[in-house]
Amino acid sequence: MRELGVYCEIHPWDISDAEVRAFGARGVILSGGPESVTDATPPKAPEAVFALEAPLLGICYGMQTMAQQLGGRVAAGAVREFGYAEVQVSAPSRLLDGLADRVREGAAVLDVWMSHGDRVEALPPGFHSLASTHNAPFAAMADERRGFYGVQFHPEVTHTRQGTAVLERFVREICGCEARWTVGNIIEDLIARVRAQVGSAQVLLGLSGGVDSSVVAALLQRAIGQQLTCVFVDHGLLRLGEGDQVMQIFASGLSARVIRVQAEDRFMNALRGVSDPEAKRKIIGRQFIEVFENQARALEGIGFLAQGTIYPDVIESAGVRSGKAHVIKSHHNVGGLPPDLKFKLIEPLRELFKDEVRRIGVELGLPHELVYRHPFPGPGLGVRILGEVKAEYAELLRRADHIFIEELRRHDLYERTSQAFAVFLPVRSVGVMGDARRYDYVIALRAVETIDFMTAHWAHLPYEFLDVVSRRIVNEVPGVSRVVYDISGKPPATIEWE
Ligand code: XMP
Repeated sequence: MRELGVYCEIHPWDISDAEVRAFGARGVILSGGPESVTDATPPKAPEAVFALEAPLLGICYGMQTMAQQLGGRVAAGAVREFGYAEVQVSAPSRLLDGLADRVREGAAVLDVWMSHGDRVEALPPGFHSLASTHNAPFAAMADERRGFYGVQFHPEVTHTRQGTAVLERFVREICGCEARWTVGNIIEDLIARVRAQVGSAQVLLGLSGGVDSSVVAALLQRAIGQQLTCVFVDHGLLRLGEGDQVMQIFASGLSARVIRVQAEDRFMNALRGVSDPEAKRKIIGRQFIEVFENQARALEGIGFLAQGTIYPDVIESAGVRSGKAHVIKSHHNVGGLPPDLKFKLIEPLRELFKDEVRRIGVELGLPHELVYRHPFPGPGLGVRILGEVKAEYAELLRRADHIFIEELRRHDLYERTSQAFAVFLPVRSVGVMGDARRYDYVIALRAVETIDFMTAHWAHLPYEFLDVVSRRIVNEVPGVSRVVYDISGKPPATIEWE
């Protein structure tokens, strides 16, 4: 919906009727889900959505529960339909008229993506069938009078070729929503809200160089300028040139007030002799908070702490709290700050998805390269140097990693991988270079393709490309004599090595 320029929110199925009414939606979509309405206690749509007098679109499970709740019948299908299917349109409707991938015997045919076991077997009163597949007599249904529609297929996936057109039909023509959710409008709206919330107070932001905190910084700089102070903790485990780059973009480019805290020694000292991955993460996290907190206490009159929380973080935490979400990933913010800091929180991006955050970042003048960067973990190179972290290892790793990324960009592969980086292995292996024997360290290259980072495939990078990277690393990074490529998927391996 948001891609189509219409604001929407995602709420859990057991939201109260009062909350449904208070939201004042112009339309409602009941989403798909892995449950079955034939279970003992299936999730149900809040009754209020049927009484809003607003159009309704049920997708897959959403259509099934809608059918059942409105008096139809759903049965566990004997045949599961999964993947590509051909839908034959059988009746005119505001939802599907004029949409077709082909026309056969005068009827429109749509190529869609299906994923269901159950199917609607009897329509609720007031509905008629719009389309069918081999396995689903009611692949789409409608009650035009009330503006209620159901589709068994998934319009939201790219494999359903007319999917976006179906959604657009629903939101624009049936719900009558205009495309007002545009980047320019979003920014204006965010700025107005930040100003109203903050007033004349001072705001503190932990800047990490990651996309979310960077976009918050750029936004707050535009909204409240001199009332913003950013703290950038350089823990010595950043990528090559990253610290200077952050300063260049924010302090010089955007004229933001940025305090750069050089804390490499502090982090290295705290990490000395520690090789357990979890212990390392905890130490880095704790040091980070201490440094940040020291800075915060030293500043006068800070009223707000800004955070780069985005919408998926909010949805996931809601799922964690209620135990309802099926996809749960722990996320990491400047959490764990002691409560006695007494700041109010300001999270201007908490209603936005990652792609919106990125588009806003570019619009606010952040470099494309920064905004479309691969994710980088909070503990930085600390979890990419296996075992004990040493400054000299970090130096080798930074240089090897930089070569890998530079070549990925040069070969136009960077944006085709979801995340890529080098890992330092503190084992030495024998090599030979210029007739001399070497006994040096190993660098592993990791590159993955993934949508959600919960599962991932290793990227099938071309051999010729890997050859270029390997040669450059061994030639240009003294101390490294061997380069290997990680061909493990997730699961069983995680993306990071620690
Ligand atoms: P794993 O290694 O669990 O990583 O497959 C999944 C994604 O999460 C990132 N990651 C982290 N991000 N702090 C972060 O901010 C962390 O401690 C952390 N650990 C892993 C990882 O880079 C990948 O994108």
